[in-house]
Amino acid sequence: MEYQENMALPHAAHSRPRDWPSAEDNVFLRRSSGNEKFMQSYARLPIRNFVAPEIVLGAGSLELAGQYACDLSQRRVLLVTDRGVREAGWADKVKRSLALRGLEVALFDQVTASPKSEEVILGARHYLDNDCDLIVAVGGGSPMDCAKAIGIVATNKVSILQFEGVEQITTPGPPIICIPTTAGSSADVSPFTIINDVARRRKVTILSKLLVPDFSLIDPLTTSTMSDAVTVSTGMDALCHALESYVSNASSPLTDLCALESARLISSSLPIVHNDPTDARARDMMMLCSLYAGLAFSNASLGLTHAMAHSLGGLYDCTHGEVNAVLLERVVRFNYPYARDKYDTLERVMFGDAGGKDSLFRRLRELREKLGIRRGLERFGLRREDIPYLGEVTLVDLSLATNPRPATQEDIEGLYEEAL
Ligand SMILES: [Fe+2]
Repeated sequence: MEYQENMALPHAAHSRPRDWPSAEDNVFLRRSSGNEKFMQSYARLPIRNFVAPEIVLGAGSLELAGQYACDLSQRRVLLVTDRGVREAGWADKVKRSLALRGLEVALFDQVTASPKSEEVILGARHYLDNDCDLIVAVGGGSPMDCAKAIGIVATNKVSILQFEGVEQITTPGPPIICIPTTAGSSADVSPFTIINDVARRRKVTILSKLLVPDFSLIDPLTTSTMSDAVTVSTGMDALCHALESYVSNASSPLTDLCALESARLISSSLPIVHNDPTDARARDMMMLCSLYAGLAFSNASLGLTHAMAHSLGGLYDCTHGEVNAVLLERVVRFNYPYARDKYDTLERVMFGDAGGKDSLFRRLRELREKLGIRRGLERFGLRREDIPYLGEVTLVDLSLATNPRPATQEDIEGLYEEAL
């Protein structure tokens, strides 16, 4: 692809040259000598952008919230969280760190799972009423997504739903610091926020570079209070981010590197944490995997699994990561003929060798079942008569644009049927 003046930087559905070396090839290149000829056979480096916040990673980094916040706030901080994270004590720890630096805090903890547009309005009001100038989010994907949306609404003073789609936000919100307490959503590094439009029973995806947080303080200690169910579902969400961004039409050598390493580490670390939640090293590793996967999907986007999970999440109250886990193996089997080499590479890094479509399908299913996710989508309330509607909604989801295989409504409905 030739660079042209005014050309939109590829961030969505652009195919990259098939013959660009994969991360696996890069390993081969490092080992081989006289590879000049080999390199010459490849296309030129494709133009891709890569966005990320300033990241502080490591045990205890949560304690740095005050230090980072005092550079950004002269007035008051809106601390966004949910009740569960408060009860676990993490919100209070952040509050203390902010207070130690002399910062005043207004607390907003009314965020629920799959944050609703009404919660965003409430939070924005709280931000304005308390004359805040900085947002600190502590929690999983829901508080962080809600915090990003609160910032945009507080500044623009219109409904967050008006910004649906790609780069629709023109006026940035206040600075944001994110402190994730789960290893999976990666909302702390991503340019996305997903908000539930309750009136239309749809999850709305908003993608904008203005949604990338200013700082991400990633502290693996915060994941020690996650239940096994949350550990597994957020971990499977991260795996899904890695796999979908790796085969995405908008992937690049940079995102490939992150995605592949994430998939490799999750396949070994997640079963360890599931069996022994006190294994601190495996918990650290899961936080790292989540970050890698987050950087990959923030810059290569996702695919059909997420498009279908978003549609289902708008209609039913269901766990995002668990829905992804159930759909993933089926979407991989559907996509396989369109990204064969990449799926084979994934299977090799995750399981040691590659046996093709059915082998990867079976191994992903075994991994999911080993982690205790054994039931289909019926358990979330999915009814056969809702499938045509879900098919329609999935077709317009942003994540579908970068799926390696084009999908028709019929294809999507078939995948929902299979996953019942
Ligand atoms: Fe996800």
